[in-house]
Amino acid sequence: MAITTLDHPLAADLLTILRDKQTDPPRFRQIAERLGYLLVAEALSDMSTDEIDIETPLEATVGTRLHRPVVAVAVLRAGLGLLSSVLTLVPDAAIGFAGVQRDEETAEPIEYYTKFPTLDKARVLVLEPMLATGGSLSWAIDKVEENGARDITAVCVVAAPEGVSKMEEKHPNVRIVAAALDRELNEHFYIAPGLGDMGDRLFGTI
Ligand code: URA
Repeated sequence: MAITTLDHPLAADLLTILRDKQTDPPRFRQIAERLGYLLVAEALSDMSTDEIDIETPLEATVGTRLHRPVVAVAVLRAGLGLLSSVLTLVPDAAIGFAGVQRDEETAEPIEYYTKFPTLDKARVLVLEPMLATGGSLSWAIDKVEENGARDITAVCVVAAPEGVSKMEEKHPNVRIVAAALDRELNEHFYIAPGLGDMGDRLFGTI
């Protein structure tokens, strides 16, 4: 499977707070940002680096810097919940937006806005916290590929097996990093056990 799940007690602890329906939007946003740090660190763990010569206060030494720039593309609106994690860890990251709505009956993606920085030489992190049917993520990946992206990692909070299968079939070269792989999609295309509607929980629109 092209999915890496976080194997860390801190990630499990943070995800449990997100799953809990008692968690209110201010806390939900704060915890999503913290879990985002762990997800982004994992999503960049295979980045190549360049050696550079630097001087510490004590002596000359060799350090490393990221070889490629990082771009984050937030799939609106839930992807905004992971954006501050990227910008804190990689302040130079350029940011794109992919506005997609899901048709409530068919769960098919409907585009309403896209704006991307230069993608072709970057590690592109597509921020799509809930990988449910895979429709929105697959649509977003088609869009970034049409705009030149070649090195793509999807950053998710929770994934469903159905969405992972769709990604394996349509985008086998895209790595998926998630905090958890959940049991299934329910009849309303929600991930179970999941955490509900990520956008609603982030922005208080329940
Ligand atoms: N989107 C969400 O926000 N939650 C789900 O469970 C599925 C899609």
